[in-house]
Amino acid sequence: MDLHTPVCDLLCCDVPIVLAGMGGVARSELVAAVTEAGGFGFLGMVRESPELITAEIEAVRARTARPFGVNLIPAATKPERLEAELRACLDGHVHAVTLFWDLSVETVKRLKGEGVLVVCQVGSLAEAMAAENAGADILIVQGLEAGGHVRGRVALRPLLTDVLSAVEAPVLAAGGLTDGRDLADVLRLGAQGAMFGTAFLATNESFAHDFHKRRIVDAAPGQTVHTQAFHINWPVGAYVRVLPNSVTRHERDGPFAPTRQVIGEDGERPIYLFSTDSPLRSMTGDLEAMALYAGEGAGRLAEILPAAERLRSIAAGARAALLTTTDGATPDEPLADAAENCEPSSPVCYASEADDAYMGFAPAAELVAELNVLLEAERAGARVAARIAADAPDRELKALAKVIHADEVRWCRALFGALGDLKAEPSTKVGDFFDKAMAIDGVEARLAFVNRGQGWVVRKLRTLVPRIRDPALHDVLGEMLRAHEVNIASANEALERRAAPAGSPPP
Ligand SMILES: Cc1cc2nc3c(=O)[nH]c(=O)nc-3n(C[C@H](O)[C@H](O)[C@H](O)COP(=O)(O)O)c2cc1C
Repeated sequence: MDLHTPVCDLLCCDVPIVLAGMGGVARSELVAAVTEAGGFGFLGMVRESPELITAEIEAVRARTARPFGVNLIPAATKPERLEAELRACLDGHVHAVTLFWDLSVETVKRLKGEGVLVVCQVGSLAEAMAAENAGADILIVQGLEAGGHVRGRVALRPLLTDVLSAVEAPVLAAGGLTDGRDLADVLRLGAQGAMFGTAFLATNESFAHDFHKRRIVDAAPGQTVHTQAFHINWPVGAYVRVLPNSVTRHERDGPFAPTRQVIGEDGERPIYLFSTDSPLRSMTGDLEAMALYAGEGAGRLAEILPAAERLRSIAAGARAALLTTTDGATPDEPLADAAENCEPSSPVCYASEADDAYMGFAPAAELVAELNVLLEAERAGARVAARIAADAPDRELKALAKVIHADEVRWCRALFGALGDLKAEPSTKVGDFFDKAMAIDGVEARLAFVNRGQGWVVRKLRTLVPRIRDPALHDVLGEMLRAHEVNIASANEALERRAAPAGSPPP
């Protein structure tokens, strides 16, 4: 049975089996092996230097005469670096470029204008439609089951069905796919082919470290974790799918650790704990604690193979599966939906310029804005606590309100000082929390409202503290966070005790 679909004509390949442009992992050796075997390979070049991109393009050409592509991620790349990367792709006359993460309409148009085939990987129906409108020639629908950075929150099958009914562009499926049955399954659903990441990571030619390859073939089904734990180098809030390790088991310092910890090296480049770098052949260090990207199909991969052998086995398996169903036999079971064990963590980063945004730290302007918001809130909190202390009907409430007041004043001073250190103007406003609290009748109800306000401060600090580069400020805000947690607990305890009927046991 012929697996050839129209997308093969666009990509100039024999079978609709595409190698994902995995950053760091999909280098020239792997791309050439997949492409030469009849599939289509993308070089994973996110944030790489134009010199490396040019060298890798030449290295693929030295191994195969067939067309191949390059993967770039505009949202994770500084504009001047992206421009240099695009130039390297255009000067290198690559056949196609895949783009991922936030859609860059400008980049799609620019590449198309230069005659390059543009392929956009998307994680939702809305994104698929936007990419098609922007002019993408091929869409890759990425399901929640995917290894590496996961764009959306929908499992592959339902998302694929939705996208196929809404777009005209040829669609490839990605996420959790490992073998021929998977390829046959998505072809039956209407996709024109599939893109594989993890399955090609576990091959002889991939640039992943052997440790990573072994962890994949040793993985049990359903073992992957969807997490935000690996966050350095990538937009805040991004999820990745990885194999469990000491980081996802929370055995390492939490993201509240005061300083970035170096756990390895890639040449002269340090690899940080919680960074999105996955272990590569060129790396040394604590490989176990790095991001071990893997899709949900990892549990079904039993051995590390030559890439051409993996591709041939996927193609043969798909032909066999498609023939079986054409003969009227029972169709294959549907693809497993995304793992249940979703722990809601972040891409690969190879830039040498480690500025704040790149490292996942809050840039100065954002930090100033956040500190001012906190200052206004603390000022309001201090005033409300002072009023509660004045109006409190008994000693217990008075003492509690005084402690809260003294703390809020202390944090106002600390925030004021931090803003001064940043050469920023401290806000003089009082947060509107004050007026809202004063509109509440009754000292206890007001104290309960203060506690909710303190809870808001805690949530804000939990997000902000891991993103503070300066160790001194990191420690101050960490202490502020803990002090608020303690105050919340003691106020809650006092309020519960007072609410309990006389004679009932202490809460
Ligand atoms: C190790 C690894 C690195 C990845 N790096 C990138 C990348 O740099 N750019 C990109 O567009 N996708 C990247 N992805 C995601 C793939 O494009 C694709 O969505 C995913 O591999 C499909 O799921 P699978 O791994 O289960 O096959 C990466 C995936 C893995 C496993």
